[in-house]
Amino acid sequence: MNDLRDKYLAAIAVAADESALEDVRLAAMGKQGEVALRMRELGKMSPEERMVAGPALNALKDEITSALAAKKVALADAALDERLRGEWLDVTLPARPRRQGTIHPISQVTEEVTAIFADMGFRVAEGPQIESDWYNFDALNIPGHHPARAEMDTFYTHRAPGDNRPPHVLRTHTSPVQIRALEAQGAPIRVIAPGRVYRADYDQTHTPMFHQVEGLAIDRDISMANLKWCLEEFVKAYFEVDHVDLRFRASHFPFTEPSAEVDIRCSWEGGTLKVGEGDDWLEILGSGMVHPKVLEAAKVDPTQWQGFAFGMGIDRIAMLKYGIPDLRAFFDSDLRWLRHYGFAALDQPTLHGGLSR
Ligand code: DAH
Repeated sequence: MNDLRDKYLAAIAVAADESALEDVRLAAMGKQGEVALRMRELGKMSPEERMVAGPALNALKDEITSALAAKKVALADAALDERLRGEWLDVTLPARPRRQGTIHPISQVTEEVTAIFADMGFRVAEGPQIESDWYNFDALNIPGHHPARAEMDTFYTHRAPGDNRPPHVLRTHTSPVQIRALEAQGAPIRVIAPGRVYRADYDQTHTPMFHQVEGLAIDRDISMANLKWCLEEFVKAYFEVDHVDLRFRASHFPFTEPSAEVDIRCSWEGGTLKVGEGDDWLEILGSGMVHPKVLEAAKVDPTQWQGFAFGMGIDRIAMLKYGIPDLRAFFDSDLRWLRHYGFAALDQPTLHGGLSR
């Protein structure tokens, strides 16, 4: 029986994985295995021979069985070690700052504004950047001959010769989203609409594409007082200060009556802009009570509903809060500028967690 023992113990020792080991087990201990065959031979032996061969065969069986079990454990341990080596990950390694992108100040400020107005119950609404002249102008009480159309330096799209429909425009403001949101939802409504707008203009404070956020609140009894409170709350939260002086200046927009422009108290000492102190004022938004004709254009009954709207320059308030002197740099894609003014990607602005830290 020593030949059998040597053969199978050697085979177990070299079995490289669990399936090779299983082959060895079947060859030795399976129903047709060599040990089983030997067991069957016991029947043909004389009682004397069987007295010797029986216990020896049982001992061999036990020895092979325990060698198989030990090898099985060893193979499983080795497989686990191998997997642990392959899947090893050092979670304490720091991020590679050079490879980390940053959040653009415009995106950051849009998130901040959204967080503040969401807290006051405003939902985010959207509209297309290529807009019909109905939504961009007519529905907002700016008829074809109105000087506001010329003032806005509008980009028009091309129409094929002979096509006499009015051309589409790149929206010159976010105000058309007022109409689209009212059409979609009706009154009452509270929405803000941040997004890109376009005008043919280019200097230190104007770029042909820039950003606005529109606000609209319509209900049965909304007044200028609600507008004033909302804007004051917004400005304090946004600039992260307890007090800000705002100045409401009577103004005119075709889509509001009465209308007001809002300035914020600031100082320009030493070339840096400081919000909340000093003798200068900086205009940040236009606003007013939504004109009845605008409500009518959006199929909302102006004898039942009224409310306020405002339109604010996102780039403007971003420059103000983060001390960015030149608007054009926002859109230069200069990596050094982006690293300097960008925000950490994982710091989501929230009111409870802090807007900008
Ligand atoms: N749409 C105006 C602009 O682009 C800004 C504005 C003024 C929006 C008054 C309003 C508003 O909603 O009520 O200059």
